[in-house]
Amino acid sequence: MTQIEQFSQEYIEKNTPEKDMLFKSFLDSQEPYTSIFKNNPWLAPPNFKKPLSKNKVHYWNTTVGRKHPYWKTKKLPTPTKEIKQIRKDFKKWGYALIEDGMSKDQCHLFIERLLEQAQGEKLAGVNSITPSGQYVHTLINKGEMFRGCIEQDPSHVQAGVLIENFLNETLGTGWICHSFLANGAEKGYYPQVLHLDQSPLSPWITEEAPALVNTLYIPQDVNEENGGTLIIPGSHKNIIKAGSNGKIGKLPPAINLEARAGTVMLFDGRLLHGTGVNHTNKIRFVAAMSNVKSWMRSQENWVISVNPEIIKNASPKLLHRMGMQAVTYGGTIEGFGMGAAGKVDESRGSIKYFREAFDEGEYIRVGELTSTSPKSVLKKNYTLRQAMKKAKSK
Ligand SMILES: [Fe+2]
Repeated sequence: MTQIEQFSQEYIEKNTPEKDMLFKSFLDSQEPYTSIFKNNPWLAPPNFKKPLSKNKVHYWNTTVGRKHPYWKTKKLPTPTKEIKQIRKDFKKWGYALIEDGMSKDQCHLFIERLLEQAQGEKLAGVNSITPSGQYVHTLINKGEMFRGCIEQDPSHVQAGVLIENFLNETLGTGWICHSFLANGAEKGYYPQVLHLDQSPLSPWITEEAPALVNTLYIPQDVNEENGGTLIIPGSHKNIIKAGSNGKIGKLPPAINLEARAGTVMLFDGRLLHGTGVNHTNKIRFVAAMSNVKSWMRSQENWVISVNPEIIKNASPKLLHRMGMQAVTYGGTIEGFGMGAAGKVDESRGSIKYFREAFDEGEYIRVGELTSTSPKSVLKKNYTLRQAMKKAKSK
């Protein structure tokens, strides 16, 4: 094959001074985070290698809105069943609270299942530990009530019809469930870095509707003591005002979310938030079900459709192109790949192992586990455990 000069790497490099590269400075700007941290040093993440600082200036050392000197005189959202109020709160503050979104019984089943699952996953050695505490991933496989919540079925989440309608009008019909996982906050762990759930879309910021709306299921009371989610009310407006690649100035202080068991929080993908610090001895769980616009995934569902022979013989680069290299925000399997950077041949994000097990009819998923699951169940050859081992050994 004759090499066409203009198509060669050398030629392209010779003709690519940095100033000519389209959108490079836009894409590399790291906004809005660069300006957020520069202009609000109190939002700097903790040092994950040191004990957590108790200095008042840090964003995690805060309290609930009604006790906060800055926020207590403002009319922040309070739980409501009224969709008209929910719309107003969501638009103005970036979040709204649905009162009794889950009934007492629904809530009880939800939290009991979650706590049992968390114990079972620990015993099975498939527990996911994050800097904030234990997570339980892929709830869809782990209880009927979780599947019901994804479907917004009123027999599992009594406000299901309201949520469904609200998501239709904010994301457009056809939205899909991004993920549904439970975030634990445990004593001695760290707060999450405050972030936008819509981060992968940065630096593009749309002025109108968000591209992601999170529904946070709160199955137990949360407050400043047990790590109520940290939020900066109204921060979505600062982000929207700055616009695509815009700079953020000074932000108001963060508060801990205060809500009773059964509340469902709806929040805009552009609201700054993160897991709080739990000062109690009991793990605190909330479950985040984020929802995205229907196009926010690869159009081709490669993981299902690609021929096994092609997968077997594919180069690491081809596998990467087919989306078989998970990143934190996409393509994870049972939580595997969360934390990966999505690089070619990155073992901790390679989902090829799962697909091959699937093709062989040997994929064993982690399903419902409890603190009394028999050894034969706990010791099953879970594909997740195998994949974790494989990733560690590389
Ligand atoms: Fe988040």
